[in-house]
Amino acid sequence: MILGSGRAPGKVILFGEHAVVYGRPALAVPVTQVQAEAVVEPGERGAGLTIVATDLGETITVRDAPADHPLAAVARLTLVKFGLRDPDWRVTIRSTIPIASGMGSGAAVSAAIVRALAAAWGQGSGVRGQEVAISPEEISALVYEVERLHHGTPSGIDNTVVVYGQPVYFVRGQPPQTFHIGRPFMLAIADTGIHSPTKIAVGDVRRAWEREGTRFERLFDQVTTIVEDARLAIADGQPDRLGLLMNRNHALLQEIGVSCPELDALVAAARGAGALGAKLSGGGRGGNMIALVTADSASRVAKALVAAGAVRVIVTEVADGI
Ligand code: MEV
Repeated sequence: MILGSGRAPGKVILFGEHAVVYGRPALAVPVTQVQAEAVVEPGERGAGLTIVATDLGETITVRDAPADHPLAAVARLTLVKFGLRDPDWRVTIRSTIPIASGMGSGAAVSAAIVRALAAAWGQGSGVRGQEVAISPEEISALVYEVERLHHGTPSGIDNTVVVYGQPVYFVRGQPPQTFHIGRPFMLAIADTGIHSPTKIAVGDVRRAWEREGTRFERLFDQVTTIVEDARLAIADGQPDRLGLLMNRNHALLQEIGVSCPELDALVAAARGAGALGAKLSGGGRGGNMIALVTADSASRVAKALVAAGAVRVIVTEVADGI
């Protein structure tokens, strides 16, 4: 018997990563082809809350797990939120979002767990059928708490976009704004296969910013101009203009110090195969890059990315209401 279930999509950052940590705006979109899902069923009597992470081959007894175990942490925060005491429930998680590649897999798994527990709680508390026992703001805040365990002082963009499941214009500390996509466009998302924790890249940028504040503030200001131009181009239905903006944002990210030879090689390969523009996406130093493609160029660019070392390429359409 299923007591409750929840889902959340993956995400990519289009523009503004790293600068967003310093109060600048950034744009991010959900990637709905990849999803995390959590399902709550009755567990063994007296076992308390257990989490079965199918893809990781791991089963966690929440009451025995270390404080910083991310799956247990999000479950505990949610139980506290609902005043629940270690119910005998089993939460099974499945995710098709590539792990540790900058597509928000951790945030999406957390969001799916919160939603599934909220739905199960809704059943148990007699408000069955009441789908939204918890608002997106509240889910996002819980997921953010867990993101802090992995990422130090994240801006909050990752939890926001996976929880809202909408294109988001994000400024740290402000309510997220969803934005209109005037004309759909296509992205190829390629994974370098290099696992690079966001926390490390963010920490390195902070140290560099502490040393050379003026230079970094200027770089972040240039990123802001790109983000604002990109938002207008997207809303005006002129996504072709994004290519140049991606190339510029990538050059700034190189200066910020978060690219790496493998990312630069994929960016060059995508451009060489006819992408309108390309940049790294997310924390950098590995993880993902994105390229602006068309129906005509998508498969050629995807092939070139694989030939240049990508371990995975996802072609996705960015559109309103996905
Ligand atoms: C990571 O997806 C995006 C960064 O800007 C970090 C953050 O916003 O917390 C690199």
